[in-house]
Amino acid sequence: MRIGLLTGGGDCPGLNAVIRAVVQRLANAGSSCVGIMEGWRGLTQGMTRELAVSDTDGIIARGGTILGTSRTNPFKNADVDIPKLRANFKDLGLHGLVAIGGDDSLRVAHRLFQEFQMPMVGIPKTIDNDLMVTDFTFGFDTAINVVTEAVDRLRTTTESHRRIMVVETMGRHAGWIACFAGVAVAADYVLIPEVPIDIPHLVDVLKRRRAAGKNYGIVIASEGAQFPDRGAIVQDPEADPFGHVRLGGVGNAVAKIIEEQVGCETRCVVLGYLQRGGPPSAFDRVLATRYGLGAIDMVHRGEFGCMAALRSNKIVSIPLLEAISKNRVVDDEMIQIAGGLFEEIGEAATK
Ligand code: F6P
Repeated sequence: MRIGLLTGGGDCPGLNAVIRAVVQRLANAGSSCVGIMEGWRGLTQGMTRELAVSDTDGIIARGGTILGTSRTNPFKNADVDIPKLRANFKDLGLHGLVAIGGDDSLRVAHRLFQEFQMPMVGIPKTIDNDLMVTDFTFGFDTAINVVTEAVDRLRTTTESHRRIMVVETMGRHAGWIACFAGVAVAADYVLIPEVPIDIPHLVDVLKRRRAAGKNYGIVIASEGAQFPDRGAIVQDPEADPFGHVRLGGVGNAVAKIIEEQVGCETRCVVLGYLQRGGPPSAFDRVLATRYGLGAIDMVHRGEFGCMAALRSNKIVSIPLLEAISKNRVVDDEMIQIAGGLFEEIGEAATK
């Protein structure tokens, strides 16, 4: 078989580990792999490279993607781009395509499968961990470790200056990164898109912790956290090809309010793309490898229109339609775990 492979959407630690697994499993089966460059743009414009096992040496440890990526949506200018994409697929002699992406890229794969019967298999990728039907996307573990390490470093300067530090994380639709990292660093408060920002409560918690003797504070704010009156803060209103505006700024906005209302020096650090960069964690390398191997097993079984998913620690095949039906937001249990820590018991009371 001759199988195409592309990486679409924001880059994510573990993409190269998937590429390695896909190429090696195909080679072992006597099949070949065609790398499609820069996501759906590459299939539309015919930008490809043959991928041999020798191309994958050592890439498991590298972040980013050797194929390049983009947020290209071929359905945006469908009349022109979809015929080109289909013609390139045919000319390349492909028997299937593995698309590694988040909800946007996988939605394209689903539509190509449903509307044009193109043989697609998806692999869930995003540091945001907001895809349905899979327990974890790869990249998430690395991202929360980056945030955790950053906050461990920020804690020392914050404590020395008796300040409050607001750390803004990624997480457009869902607050998984902020929630997990918030629990991991014992943050004083966590702001996520799922729960409207409650300034009086935030200020009250921070003040009570100061009164109890804790002379510094850590607040984690997901970029998608929303003020009840003005929603999320937009950094750039120009929408990408999938209709998303660029978020950012909630950390600074909240820091200003805290400084005024709690009455203590407050700073903000926006972690931004640091969360997507650098080598993947060991967990993500293993998870990404399992996804890659699972996707090729699905190709060999002819399970197209499906995505490899992690369910109860097993790689299973789930229809793409289910994966893209909506974003997976932080569940109540996790909100309770993070929320329980906002009260004055625990860390603060011991300081
Ligand atoms: O989808 C992952 C993500 O990291 C979001 O959390 C963030 O809003 C977005 O990508 C930023 O994407 P871009 O690379 O287009 O700025």
